[in-house]
Amino acid sequence: MSRTAVPLVVALGIAIATWMWFRPAAPPQDDPAEEAQAAEAPEPPVVEYTTGPATPDGTGKFFHGREIAQVMGHAGLGWLERGNREDEEAPSKAIAAIELAPDAVIADIGAGSGYYSFRLAPKVPAGKVIAVDIQPEMLDFLRERASEREIRNVQPHLGAIDDIRVPPATLDAVLMVDAYHEFSHPREMLASLRHALKPGGRIFLLEYRAEDPRVPIKPLHKMTEAQARLEFESAGFRFVKNLRPLPWQHLLIFEKP
Ligand SMILES: C[S@@+](CC[C@H](N)C(=O)[O-])C[C@H]1O[C@@H](n2cnc3c(N)ncnc32)[C@H](O)[C@@H]1O
Repeated sequence: MSRTAVPLVVALGIAIATWMWFRPAAPPQDDPAEEAQAAEAPEPPVVEYTTGPATPDGTGKFFHGREIAQVMGHAGLGWLERGNREDEEAPSKAIAAIELAPDAVIADIGAGSGYYSFRLAPKVPAGKVIAVDIQPEMLDFLRERASEREIRNVQPHLGAIDDIRVPPATLDAVLMVDAYHEFSHPREMLASLRHALKPGGRIFLLEYRAEDPRVPIKPLHKMTEAQARLEFESAGFRFVKNLRPLPWQHLLIFEKP
């Protein structure tokens, strides 16, 4: 090597070493869980509960101005399973109106005896119905019925009064029939649904129509469409539509954006 080349090689070595040392850090690898979280819509503002004198059937606890009804105990199983329910409420029309992919995972929240869960099960032969309730007696009934009928895709599941206890982003859909109005912690339940649903996941909400005085149900066990929209939209859900196939109930659809 010539005498002039030596300093050149040394200078080049120093330059490379400096570049190696100070080069900008590689951009962080994308973490899919973090990305999904970042893509989640921001939490909606917290709506406080209020209290007041309890009316008959009521709890004295109010959400968005609506008094929360008392929970129907498991002694009401017979009423849920009554033989003339089809004539009165046409549940078969509700089941027909609920669109689901054959492999969908749907949670029937406040499933009670599983009246709806078992009727939904044939619509998701490659998926499942998670039948959520807070009363173990309801789940015992459901479990026995599933085993008698050899239905394998209905899964009884014990929820908490403020949490459905399923992992985030696992549900394609949620059904709630005559149950939401009696959730003692609707704000927390709505947040729990938002976390449990996949983006684009749908809620099918059936509630007796409070707008219609001919619907023979106690006032606190009914809801208006406006009230349901207020509660679900404030909780970050998008209103899709009110299907109107049923004689007594709203069939409202909401979507997680
Ligand atoms: C009136 S029953 C309706 C049962 C069923 N959906 C039907 O239509 O046949 C309401 C059910 O909601 C349940 N429930 C009340 N609060 C709940 C909560 N936070 N999470 C899950 N289930 C709840 C009650 O235990 C009860 O079984």
